[in-house]
Amino acid sequence: MPKPIYVLSGPNLNLLGTREPEIYGHQTLDDVRGLCEARAQSLGFEVVFRQSNHEGDLVDWIQEAREAACAVVLNPAAYGHTSIALLDALKMLSIPIVECHLSNPAAREAFRRKTYVSLAATGVVSGFGAASYELAVEAAAGLAR
Ligand code: DQA
Repeated sequence: MPKPIYVLSGPNLNLLGTREPEIYGHQTLDDVRGLCEARAQSLGFEVVFRQSNHEGDLVDWIQEAREAACAVVLNPAAYGHTSIALLDALKMLSIPIVECHLSNPAAREAFRRKTYVSLAATGVVSGFGAASYELAVEAAAGLAR
């Protein structure tokens, strides 16, 4: 079994399903976890699936992924637009990084058009709701092979 794909989600995504469902959909983060696990398993991978509202937790998990993961899928949520700390942590990774968003931030407010995470990401999947995560896991598995 290869090392797991780390699937990390940032602030407010714990409330997925009730949070602005017209933008982010009705599926909960647990539903998303299930989708990621199933997609990874079908490709011969496992996922480590975590969410935090705290920037430092995400930095710690990205650092952990340097040794423990074969790839990282990251939905940085709002920290993508603000966090140089996340960017710096990602820059220390030598494994694939897939940035993932449920919505399409490029089609929303101007302040969402830029993410620092994109500067370090191998690629970005956005705009497909919960399926963005599945597609991101698939891309990560393909890159990790
Ligand atoms: C998001 C988009 C971000 O702009 C926003 O701050 C989020 C969620 C998404 O998944 O579409 O919290 O990352």
